Parts: sequence; C-alpha cells; structure tokens
Amino acid sequence: MRRERTGEERGPARDDGRRDFLRCAAGFAGTAASGGRAGGAAAVPAGRSAQAVAPAPNGTSDDGRRLPPDRVSFHGLHQAGIVTPQQLFAGFVAYDFVGQSRADLEKLFQRLTERFRVLGAGVKPADEKVAAERPTPDSLSVTLGVGAALFDDRFGLAGHKPRHLKAMPAFPDDRLDPARCHGDLSLQICAEHPDAVVHVLRDVARETEGLLRPRWRMDAFMNPSRPSGSPRNFLGFKDGIVNPDTDSAAEVDRLLWVTPRCGEPEWAVGGSYQALRLIRFHTDSWERLPVSRQEGIFGRRKASGAPLDGVHESDAPYYEKDPDGRKIPLDSHIRLANPRTRGTDDSRFLRRSYNYSKGFDEHGRMNLGLVFVGYQQNLERQFATVQRRLRHEPLSRFITPFGGGYFFVLPGVRDRNDWFGSRLMRDTRPRNG
Ligand code: HEM
Repeated sequence: MRRERTGEERGPARDDGRRDFLRCAAGFAGTAASGGRAGGAAAVPAGRSAQAVAPAPNGTSDDGRRLPPDRVSFHGLHQAGIVTPQQLFAGFVAYDFVGQSRADLEKLFQRLTERFRVLGAGVKPADEKVAAERPTPDSLSVTLGVGAALFDDRFGLAGHKPRHLKAMPAFPDDRLDPARCHGDLSLQICAEHPDAVVHVLRDVARETEGLLRPRWRMDAFMNPSRPSGSPRNFLGFKDGIVNPDTDSAAEVDRLLWVTPRCGEPEWAVGGSYQALRLIRFHTDSWERLPVSRQEGIFGRRKASGAPLDGVHESDAPYYEKDPDGRKIPLDSHIRLANPRTRGTDDSRFLRRSYNYSKGFDEHGRMNLGLVFVGYQQNLERQFATVQRRLRHEPLSRFITPFGGGYFFVLPGVRDRNDWFGSRLMRDTRPRNG
C-alpha cells in the first residue's frame, strides 16, 4: 500500500465540513505529537494504543507486501484490523442481534471480547482431533462494528448513537439487495489463511447462540501483485495504491479515528466509521473494452499502475497541469475520487478492500467483485462525499453495488478488565439500574 502524497495544492479550508474536520484533527490531546511511526510499544505515546498508527510491519514479502505481525495486538485505544497491514484473507459478516434485553447485549459484548482475546493469541481448529495442536495466531484480527439499528429504543441506547451513523442509503448507481445489506453488528475477520477466518466464524456461532443471527456474509482475499507493486483487482488494475499514511499519527487522527473533539458521544472516542460495499464486476463487457479505454476510465495505466501523466505507480498525478483532462480524463475514477484540491483533502479515507470470487450466476457468468472497505472519522464528510463525486462515473457501467452497510467500529478494548462497548453500556445505564 503506497502512502498518499501531500500535494502542494492542498491548503486551508472554507466550509462547515472543513471546520468540523479541523476541530477533530486536533486529535488525542497532544498524544499524536510524536507524529512518527510506532516502531514498537515504546514509540507509542502514553495513553495511545499500539493500533493508533500501523504497527511496524513484519518485513515485506517478495512481491513487496507489508506483512502483518504474526500476532496482532488485541488491546488498545483502537481496534485492530484497520491500520494493521492487510492480511491475505478476510471474512465479512453482518448479524442481527436476537437477544431480548440490555443484559443480553452486555453479555454478547463481553463474550465476544473474551473470545477475540483468546483467538488472537492462537486460532485453534474446531476439529477435536487436531485441537491438541499448538494454536497459531496467524496474524488474526477481528474488528467489531455496530449498526444504526442497535440504537433504537430496545436497549436504552437511543440518543447515544454516533452522530454520522445511519443505515447505508442507496446511491444512484446501486441495486441493493435488502438481504445483503445492513445489520446490527459487523465482523471483519482477517488472517493469513482462510481456515482461520472460518474457525473464528464457528467459534462465534457456538459462543453466541441465542444472541446473534447471521444476516449476510462475504469471504474475500487479496490477490498477489503481478508482477510487483500493489495487488490487482479482477478488472486487472492495481488497486490500493493511494491511501492516507497510516504511519503518521497526525494523519490518522485527522482522517481515521473519532477524537475527543469531534463532538461525538464520549463513549465513541477511539472508534472509526466503517463503510462496507459489496460490488459486482461485469467482467464480460469490461473485457471487450480496449485497454486504452479502460485506462481512461481509471486514469491509470493497466500494466504499471502509473497515473496517465506519469511513469511509475507511485507517481502523483498532476491535475493542475492538465486542467482540461487531456491526459487524465476529468471523469476518470481517480480524478473524481480524489481531485487533490484544497477543499477535498478532508474527504480522503482509508481503503482496505478485498476481492471476492463466488462461482457463477444463474446465466453462467463469473461472479467476481470487490468487498470495498473504507474507514474514516466521519462517514458523511468522507465516504459519502466521495461516493457522490463518483455518481454516474464511466466505471459505473461495469460494476453494480448490491450490498454492504454502514457500521461504527467500537473503540478498542483497553486491557484485560475492559470489554467491547463497556463505556457505551455504562454511559447509558438506567439511573435506577
Ligand atoms: C468496484 C468498484 C471500484 C473499483 C474497481 C475501484 C478501483 C480503483 C482503482 C484501480 C484505483 C486506482 C489505484 C489506487 O489508488 O488504489 C482506485 C482509486 C481510488 N478509489 Fe476506487 N474503486 C472502486 C470503488 C470505489 C469507491 C466506491 C470509492 C469511494 C466511494 C473509491 C475511492 C477511491 C479512491 C479515494 C481512490 C484513490 C484516488 C487517488 O487518491 O488518486 N473507489 N479505485
């Protein structure tokens, strides 16, 4: 994953969203002061979690992938699985909460905390015959989000919803299938092998009986980079080249985490908004396009990943020099998604997407696509704004978003005595309870 370049064209802000952004960006009361990479526990400012900025990678693979640590730290101010270097495999699941009471919800949060703490230390095969084997951590991270529906009046959470959390709306190019949208809870399970993802799912099913009912699920994976650099999606383009710099505490406090100054409920500080989008590719019609047309649609070269005005994948596009879009079309995906102007800097967010491949559809066509995953401080200012800019982009004729949801990733579990949502449940406890 390449780091976003800071363009000289970016500067001070003007509108309300931008003011909101600047206030939030003040971050964790100076804890971000060091600004640099957390090379290990000692480099993390006091009060900060190891997951605030990306953990030092466990080296890089032969094809240049930043490898996640073998054992991803579970405790911290933020949950793992966001700035964690991307593992190869992922499972995305949304559940409905079917417990009856507030006490059930508390039980669920506590049980998930215990299980993820244990599983993070080592994933054990569920099969008893091999359960005696030493469990391996497999770089597992499990990231828990909550949906807007949980904040109705059933469990006393009404009035305490994160400000920007709502059911994911249908955008103009969407064809949403209600059975594959939304949910009370989301899990993003990431590991270096697909069996670890399945073991976690089985564990959750066993341990939460009577509390959760699965709503939708999508298994996904990263492709290797071919031949090098960022990995390719199933449209054949390098994907994940440009992202915010997760090594910079200042950057993640501006773009990723809910900070004490965002005007959010106190319990939500340290959390992050998650946008999940299940997007199908129409590879048949895409493959009929000449490569030069495909390149114009993305604004990047297919072979190298370079912007159409550059040579290397890591070159920054220079839109000011190309105001009429002669090199990089004005309606190309990268130009609309990130115009690199003063006013659009605050809409950047972290993409952590995976590919999916699910056999054939009823017409015998390959069912391929993307689980688009975005993390951010403010859903409206970031994902929704970018999505609106992409409205009717040329790429939209070759893809169909059909599912997903908006979720709020709860703040991290701080230590052995803490549990997911402890602060939320405490702040909303009935006075006589
Ligand atoms: C099937 C759907 C999509 C595909 C195949 C796709 C593919 C790509 C590719 C190939 C790139 C260029 C390489 C890179 O910088 O990673 C890119 C960039 C980007 N995409 Fe998408 N994308 C999709 C959907 C979206 C959506 C829904 C959003 C946000 C709402 C989005 C936001 C971005 C952003 C912000 C960039 C970086 C632009 C830059 O900073 O230069 N993409 N995408």
